[in-house]
Amino acid sequence: MSATLDTVSLLADRINALEESSTLAMTKKARELAAQGHKVISLSVGEPDFKTPAHICEAAKKAIDDGFHGYSPVAGYPDLRKAIADKFKRDNNIDWKPENIVVSTGAKHSLANVIQVLINPGDEVIIFSPYWVSYSEMVKLAEGKAVVVDGSFENNFKVTPEQFEAAITDRTKIVMYASPNNPTGSIYSEAELRAIADVVARHENVFVLADEIYEYINFTPEGHFSMGSIPEIAERVITVNGVAKGYAMTGWRIGYIGAAKWIAEGVEKLQGQVTSGTNSIAQKATVAALNGPMEPSMEMAKAYHRRRDLVVKLLKEVPHFRTNVPEGAFYAFPDISYYYGKSDGTTTIENSDDFAGWLLTTAYVATVAGSGFGAPDCLRISTAASDESLVEAVQRIKDAVATLK
Ligand SMILES: Cc1ncc(COP(=O)(O)O)c(C=O)c1O
Repeated sequence: MSATLDTVSLLADRINALEESSTLAMTKKARELAAQGHKVISLSVGEPDFKTPAHICEAAKKAIDDGFHGYSPVAGYPDLRKAIADKFKRDNNIDWKPENIVVSTGAKHSLANVIQVLINPGDEVIIFSPYWVSYSEMVKLAEGKAVVVDGSFENNFKVTPEQFEAAITDRTKIVMYASPNNPTGSIYSEAELRAIADVVARHENVFVLADEIYEYINFTPEGHFSMGSIPEIAERVITVNGVAKGYAMTGWRIGYIGAAKWIAEGVEKLQGQVTSGTNSIAQKATVAALNGPMEPSMEMAKAYHRRRDLVVKLLKEVPHFRTNVPEGAFYAFPDISYYYGKSDGTTTIENSDDFAGWLLTTAYVATVAGSGFGAPDCLRISTAASDESLVEAVQRIKDAVATLK
């Protein structure tokens, strides 16, 4: 092959049109700097810093010993689909049978599947913003149109029912949101979700894609509420969840949906042609996770809560950062826009990408720019790290911004 090969034009348009995941890109850069010997504190990745609980690991070892080495059914093993249906009833008051459940390779895959299955070219997907980086790209891949609706800092980054209804057109097919939210940690309360559900009820062609992957990391006294539990719209709510965050199982790659049977069958059909059933050992481990003791997950949530308090307190001491109080998940999302236009004498910060890049190369703290999350004034800081790392990281940030004039 020629050295001047135009690889960009050889790649399919749909790939050239895709953004690279900004969270994974920052993590890659941080790893490169660490490999060069720099003491990088990595707060860019959305990953628990805990190990998977022992009883779940034991179930995986047993699955290997018991010979679960073959292909699994495309939608998942029957005992796992039942465990998920039971979990939906127990935790979320959602009435799905095993036939309504499809297990996939992570919640990311579950979300992408649903969008592929429901979106035709030109269909609109309303995304409550700030939003997880992959949502808009998944919509793009399906040739849909992402309609981003901004939750304001003042409303704790949440979209109001009025904003939502104003964005609905006759091409709207899906509204999607994550609660608890990545990147903001905000949580839509039951009252807020009921008000949004009232809007959905008035628009009978609109489906809800509810991403509940951070369900167990919730610091509110009220706890988690699922829109899928509201009977009037339940058939139009697709609930996505998984084990990555709540059980510290990111690498096991198990996500799932609960949805109307025809949607679940559509996802199963797609998956049958693209990936087949997901990893058999991880599925058996997930049965143990969902049916087993919740104490390890609750302990992790307690640690995230403590770190949230720590990080918010520390960030409030960083001059000119505006920091909300996340109610769940494991991120802080300060507004850093005061520093736009300022310079340390070498680098001028124009936006959140500049800020995150500058912070990494000058203070060796890896964070992620808010731009990829639909919030160009903010910076995402993961709190899934030890207390010592968090204290050291915020101190480095403080020292770094002191050089900006
Ligand atoms: C909001 C949100 N949804 C879904 C996912 C994907 O989870 P999984 O690792 O199960 O694919 C993530 C992971 O970062 C996330 O933050």
